[in-house]
Amino acid sequence: MRLLFLGYLPIFLSMICAPRMEAQQKEISSPNQELKLVFEINEGKPFYRLEYKNQEVIRKSALGFILRGNAYKDTSDLDHFNDNFEWLDTQTASSDTTWRTVWGEESHIRDHHNELFVSLRQSTTGRLLNIRFRVFDDGLGFRYEFPSQKHLGMFIIADETTEFAMNGDHEALWIQGDYDSQEYDYTRSKLSEIKERYKSSYQSNASQETFSETGVQTALMMKSQEGLYINLHEAALIDYPAMHLNLNPETMTFVSWLTPDAWGNKAYMNAPQNTPWRTVIVSDDARDILASRITYNLNEPNTIEDTSWIKPIKFMGVWWEMITGRSSWSYTADLPSVHIGETDFSKVKPHNRHGATNENVIRYIDFAAEHGFDALLVEGWNIGWEDWFGKTKDYVFDFVTPYPDFDVQKLTDYAKSKGIALMMHHETSSSVRNYERHLDKAYQFMKDYGYTSVKSGYVGDIIPRGEKHYGQYMVNHYLYAVQKAVDYKIMVNAHEAVRPTGVGRTYPNLVANESARGTEFQAFGGSNPNHTTILPFTRLIGGPMDYTPGVFEMDISKMNPNNNSHVNTTLSNQLGLYVVMYSPIQMAADTPDNYMRFPDAFQFIKDVALEWEKSVYLEAEPGSYITVARLEKGGSTWYVGNNNGYEARTSSIDLSFLDPGVTYEATIYRDGKNAHYRKNPQDYRIEKKKVTAKSTLKIETASGGGYAIQIQKK
Ligand code: NOJ
Ligand code: CA
Repeated sequence: MRLLFLGYLPIFLSMICAPRMEAQQKEISSPNQELKLVFEINEGKPFYRLEYKNQEVIRKSALGFILRGNAYKDTSDLDHFNDNFEWLDTQTASSDTTWRTVWGEESHIRDHHNELFVSLRQSTTGRLLNIRFRVFDDGLGFRYEFPSQKHLGMFIIADETTEFAMNGDHEALWIQGDYDSQEYDYTRSKLSEIKERYKSSYQSNASQETFSETGVQTALMMKSQEGLYINLHEAALIDYPAMHLNLNPETMTFVSWLTPDAWGNKAYMNAPQNTPWRTVIVSDDARDILASRITYNLNEPNTIEDTSWIKPIKFMGVWWEMITGRSSWSYTADLPSVHIGETDFSKVKPHNRHGATNENVIRYIDFAAEHGFDALLVEGWNIGWEDWFGKTKDYVFDFVTPYPDFDVQKLTDYAKSKGIALMMHHETSSSVRNYERHLDKAYQFMKDYGYTSVKSGYVGDIIPRGEKHYGQYMVNHYLYAVQKAVDYKIMVNAHEAVRPTGVGRTYPNLVANESARGTEFQAFGGSNPNHTTILPFTRLIGGPMDYTPGVFEMDISKMNPNNNSHVNTTLSNQLGLYVVMYSPIQMAADTPDNYMRFPDAFQFIKDVALEWEKSVYLEAEPGSYITVARLEKGGSTWYVGNNNGYEARTSSIDLSFLDPGVTYEATIYRDGKNAHYRKNPQDYRIEKKKVTAKSTLKIETASGGGYAIQIQKK
C-alpha cells in the first residue's frame, strides 16, 4: 500500500482490494457532509458524480484520455485510455491545515478537505492511471496522475475525455472558446442557447479552425434553476495545455477540450506526471464562490523562501495616453521600415507623439511621487514599436535598448530620488523564443537600473508559428519567465498570458495577470457595464487581475478626438473596483490631468489599502452586483467596494464585521442622484457618516454604478 504523506493529522487510511467486478463504487463527503463525490468503474469505464445538499451538481460523467501513438495528427493511431480499467487500490485521507499567504484577500487560508485516491490498471495494456479527488466544503478538485511504470513513459495526449454532465439547462456567463484570446465581453444565456449566441468573429483567426460552436472558456460560471451556483475551472495548470469546455447541448454535458499545439496534439507527457486539477466550486450562496480558496489550496505551497522583495505596488503609468491614442509607443512615424539592430536611431526623425520621452516621464514621476504612489510603468521606452504588431521579423525587441529620448540612467535616478520605482515593460510581441533568448540580459538590465517588477505582454500570434497562447508550449514559457524572475527578485505581471489557476501560491512573484478583457477595452469601443460584476466569479477565481482601474474621464474623445469610445461605468464604480477586483498591484490608470479635475475622488485611490487581513463578501449576484468589505493588513481600517450591473439598485450592507462598541467614520464615495454609466458617469458625491457594528448602510447605485467606502476608527 502506498502511504499518502500529507504531513499533518488527522489522516485516515483505508484500502479496498477488490477483484474486478462489473460495477464498483466508492464515495466520500466534504468535511461538513454537504458535498458527496461518488467514483465508480462501470464496465471498465471510470466515472464520477457530485452532489451538493442532496442535489445532483455533476451527473455521472466519464473520465480518461485518448492517447496518440505518434507525433503526427494521424487518426489511425488513436489509443483509448478511458476503458478496460480494473480497480487496483483505494485510499482515503483527511486534512485540515491553515497556511499563510504572501499576498491575497486574507492573511491565512484554511485547507480542509477529504481525499479519495484510486489506482487503476488498463487490463488490455497493463498501463496504470491514478485519480485523486479532494472534496472541500465549497467544491471538488480532481486530477489524473500517471505514475512511473513500465508500459507508459513518454506519451502524447490526443484528447482528454473528462466530462462535466450538468443537471439542467443552467444559465451561464461565458466567453467563447479561443486558444489565443480571453479578452471578450461575457454573454449571459442558457446552456442550450450557447450555439445560437456564439459569435462568428474571433479575435484571433488562428483559433478559429478547431472550435465547435459550443466551446467556452473557463472559469465558467453557471446558475441552476434551483439557485445553485456552479463554477468550473482548473487549478495548478503546469506543463499541460489550458482546458476549454465543449458542450453537447443534447445532454448538457461539457467535455474537456485542451488547447492543441502546432501539430494538433494536446500534451506531451513523461510519467510520472500529473494533470492540473479540474475544479467544481458549488454553493447555493453566490458569495461562497467569491470566498472559495479551492484553487489556491490545490496548488503547491510557496517555493520562494525569502519573499521580502515581493511587495504590493500602487502605480501609475505612461500608458492610458497610448491606449486611448493621445500618444504613441513608437518613436517615429517611419513604419515599419526601422528595425532594432539595423537602424541607427540617432538618425531617425522622431514624431511628436512619442509618450515615453524624458520630459513626459519626469512629469509622471513628479505627479506619482506627490500623490504617494510606489511605482510608474513606462511603455514604449524601448526600440521596436515601429513594427511590433506587423512583425515583419520574428524578432522585434531586445528589451535593453531604449529610444534616444528615453535616458534610462537619468530617469531611474530621478525616480529613485523621488521614492518612485520604474516598472519595466516587456512587450514580447509573442516572439517567444526571441524573448527567452534575451531574458537573462533583460532581467539583468532591470536589476542594474533598479526595476523590481515587469509587466510583460504577448500580443499577436505566437512565434514559433502555430503554437497557441494557451497550449502546453506557452504554459511552460509563462512559468519559465516567472521562475527565472525569481533568480533576479523580479515581480511579474503578464498580459495576454494563459488565465491563472492559482499558481501564484507556488510562485508569489507572479503578482498579477491580465488574461481577460481589462480596462483597455473601454478605449477600444467599450465593455459591458456589468463586466466587473462577472470577472470576480470567472477570471479572478485563478488569481489577481491587473484590471487597471481608476478612469475618471469616460468620454475618450476628450483624450483623443479620433477615438469615440466610452468607458461604460460611473466614476464611483471605478473607485469600487479597487476593492472589488483583488490584486496586490493596483494601477491608477488615468492621466494626471484627469485626476486633478477630481481631487476629492482621487483621494480614495490614494488611501485605499493593497493588502488585506480578511475579506467579507457582503452581497453578490454574478452579472448583477458585488459588494466586498476588506480589512487592511496590519491596520484597523476597512474598505468596502461595490460594482453594480445594468439595473439601478439599492445596496444594503450590514456593518457587523466592524469591532463592536467602536465608533468609526465612514467616508462614502457614491453615485450622485443623476448618475448613469452613459448619460452622467461623473455624477458622484462624497459623504461622511458615523457608523458602528450595529449600523446598516443603504446606498443607491446607478446603472453601471458603484461605490467605495473607507471606514476608519475615530
Ligand atoms: C496589451 C496590453 O494589455 C496593454 O496593457 C499594453 O499596453 C499593450 N498590449 C502593449 O504592450
Ligand atoms: Ca491585453
